[in-house]
Amino acid sequence: MRIVCIGGGPAGLYFGLLMKKLNPAHDITVVERNRPYDTFGWGVVFSDATMDNMRQWDAETADEIEQAFNHWDDIELHFKGRVIRSGGHGFVGIGRKKLLNILQARCEALGVKLVFEREVDSDREFPDADLVVAADGINSRIRGRHADVFGPDIVTRPNRYIWLGTHKLYDAFTFLFEKTEHGWFQAHVYRFDENTSTFIVECPEHVWKAHGLDAADPQQSIAFCERLFAANLQGARLMTNTRHLRGSAWLNFQRVRCANWSHFNGASHVVLMGDAVHTAHFAIGSGTKLALEDAIELTAQFRRLGDTRERIPEVLARYQEVRAVDVLRLQNAAWNAMEWFEVCGSRYCDPLEPEQFMYSMLTRSQRISHENLRLRDRGWLEGFELWFDRKAGLDATRPVPPMFTPYTVRGVTLKNRVVVSPMAQYSCIDGLPGEFHLVHLGARALGGAGMVVAEMTCTSPDARITPGCPGLWNDAQAAAWKRIVDFVHRETDARIAMQLGHAGPKGSTCAPWEHDGDDKPLPQGNWPLVAASALPYLPDGQRPRAMTRADMDRVRDDFVAATKRAAAAGFDWLELHCAHGYLLSSFISPLTNRRDDEYGGPLGNRLRYPLEVFAAVRAAWPQDRPMSVRISAHDWVDGGITPADAVEIARAFKAAGADMIDCSSGQVSVEQKPTYGRMYQTPFADRIRNEAGIATIAVGAISEADHVNSIIAAGRADLCAIARPHLANPAWTLTEAAKIGFAAVGWPKQYRAAKKQLETGFARERSAAPGNAEGGRG
Ligand SMILES: Cc1cc2nc3c(=O)[nH]c(=O)nc-3n(C[C@H](O)[C@H](O)[C@H](O)COP(=O)(O)OP(=O)(O)OC[C@H]3O[C@@H](n4cnc5c(N)ncnc54)[C@H](O)[C@@H]3O)c2cc1C
Ligand SMILES: Cc1cc2nc3c(=O)[nH]c(=O)nc-3n(C[C@H](O)[C@H](O)[C@H](O)COP(=O)(O)O)c2cc1C
Repeated sequence: MRIVCIGGGPAGLYFGLLMKKLNPAHDITVVERNRPYDTFGWGVVFSDATMDNMRQWDAETADEIEQAFNHWDDIELHFKGRVIRSGGHGFVGIGRKKLLNILQARCEALGVKLVFEREVDSDREFPDADLVVAADGINSRIRGRHADVFGPDIVTRPNRYIWLGTHKLYDAFTFLFEKTEHGWFQAHVYRFDENTSTFIVECPEHVWKAHGLDAADPQQSIAFCERLFAANLQGARLMTNTRHLRGSAWLNFQRVRCANWSHFNGASHVVLMGDAVHTAHFAIGSGTKLALEDAIELTAQFRRLGDTRERIPEVLARYQEVRAVDVLRLQNAAWNAMEWFEVCGSRYCDPLEPEQFMYSMLTRSQRISHENLRLRDRGWLEGFELWFDRKAGLDATRPVPPMFTPYTVRGVTLKNRVVVSPMAQYSCIDGLPGEFHLVHLGARALGGAGMVVAEMTCTSPDARITPGCPGLWNDAQAAAWKRIVDFVHRETDARIAMQLGHAGPKGSTCAPWEHDGDDKPLPQGNWPLVAASALPYLPDGQRPRAMTRADMDRVRDDFVAATKRAAAAGFDWLELHCAHGYLLSSFISPLTNRRDDEYGGPLGNRLRYPLEVFAAVRAAWPQDRPMSVRISAHDWVDGGITPADAVEIARAFKAAGADMIDCSSGQVSVEQKPTYGRMYQTPFADRIRNEAGIATIAVGAISEADHVNSIIAAGRADLCAIARPHLANPAWTLTEAAKIGFAAVGWPKQYRAAKKQLETGFARERSAAPGNAEGGRG
């Protein structure tokens, strides 16, 4: 085959040499606009795993790289006058020039033709080529030429960065954070050869502008950065590589993704590779890794399917199929890491202490969890746990995982950070909780959670979602709840919360297992509905009537009466349900609130009635008992509530006296398009906690102790509410403690006989797991 690679970066060169090695009969040319052995850039980083992969494909290149690279394990943070270091992270750093020189020399040794100083304008310049590989980097001209086919999706990110070098040598991957009068800057620093380190400086656009850096030339920018990081640089100079644009100015990262990776131009097949087809932010240091792995995969497909002209279409299709999945996974992780650095100045730098800031930074991609950190550096993690334990008021000598630290708010202390999330059971008659509820909530209170939250309990008969929902509008219901509360207090050391709500437009519907199921109107016996506006939840659902002021007074007074009953029944905690499209939520979301009075319009107006109810309830609820508010932090619909709005909503409830925001999302509109995934709502809890400065409860797809520990330790939330896993296993907390080998957790005396057995079983599983010789804790 005749192959032309446009671009002599890592992708083009490595593919050229791998294909030549696969079959020396191939005629391969790499065309590069720069001069030979002359390239831009400082150092690049990739992981040990990439090196292993490369070794399997060309041991010679891998050997050369290995001799030239710097290997280091540690990450070091310089923040608020402190230096914190943790190990076990495993990176490889190499100068970009050195890497390219190795690849160029290897290409020449194998007989790949290298053509330098030729600027390619179009893939049609090589009509004899069977295959044209467009490895022409992030600004790929070839991608631009066939944009209609490749379908590039390019997102420009808000932060500014400048790629510099220094002769100061760092022995760890180092992160420097400096606060200025206009905001925070950070530097990502790593050594890549015997006398140079890469030094990338980054900040938000508004901070960059406020310092006048938009008008600064490269030398002025360097002088600014040298002053900013003077304490760390200790006289070392920063350098730019002005020959290449990347080194000469402040850039915005561009995330590139393409719908199609290949195309037939009438003469040759054209395929995109490396940065031309996808980019990954430097926060995760993987652009070069992706480029090299693209080259490996395309070669692998030729080897598997046949390296002849005829097989090219099949090979290219398979190459995209396989690579697109890996790339997406990495881009997602890189996206999280990138966002962390974009928001850290406004979200984490000021509120978090250095220990927690380090933890948050290390787990920024959400690919590294608490137990991953333990495997990487047990000493550092246990030191962190002890720090966290002390903050939580524990005087522990052995580290207690964050999940099992107590939490105090007002006069209530929860023994740990796990909450049984409210879950409607639709099993009452006339709103009266019965034996089912005693057993259901009682079992979960025995199961180790710090607190159980009763399901949404309604303030009047017409406030119910279904005829099976519980209420607190009469004394019989209050007495029935008291029986449950008394059981929990007498037999367990868990706390119990009441969640008060009004179904609003989503009322008068069937239980999930009856008739047409969830959210569908009752076939008969419906009651009239009220809502912020006269909009049904389902297009063919029952239409509510817009509340009048008299309705608002009545409902507010019903909430207050139910609150007093909840207090008298002995509940420890009260949650006001302002989420999921129910009555109070219907006021908050612009999708469901179309009022033209003072309760509609801007968010401040839409919050007016929910805040009025909150204030009345707070006044009726004992001062030493906490109140949380459950909100939908994202409607997942264009034009609906966004996470930024949720911060404002949280601020408003905080100002009104709320102790915590329980951060759920969705169920406000049938148009919603949520993005589900592990801990998918936790970013809302994180943002609200750290921007609005109020404690939060994270909820949603939190399913193991590792998740809870990571969330609590990083300061993304203060409590974790776990719903469905508690339906499967009332003793979820006790089970998870045994799973991670944490034995210092109390079991109900009646059940203690099972504790050791469960712990031993899990300990056996852990020690059988590959690469894990971990012992028990606590
Ligand atoms: C600040 C910063 C830090 C980074 N840090 C890391 C890191 O730590 N680790 C990491 O893995 N990656 C890092 N990267 C990303 C990395 O540089 C790229 O992902 C990687 O080089 C991609 O390889 P490539 O071969 O696809 O493209 P490139 O390396 O960009 O190579 C493209 C080549 O094509 C040539 N070319 C372009 N157009 C033409 C044309 N029309 N005619 C002829 N030649 C052309 C260019 O001169 C260039 O040599 C970083 C990037 C930046 C901006
Ligand atoms: C059966 C069931 C009933 C629920 N009822 C309520 C409820 O009454 N009040 C509420 O705020 N959320 C309710 N939810 C939502 C849960 O509290 C929780 O936010 C959601 O299930 C996501 O958590 P998970 O992934 O741990 O299940 C319910 C969820 C389930 C599965």
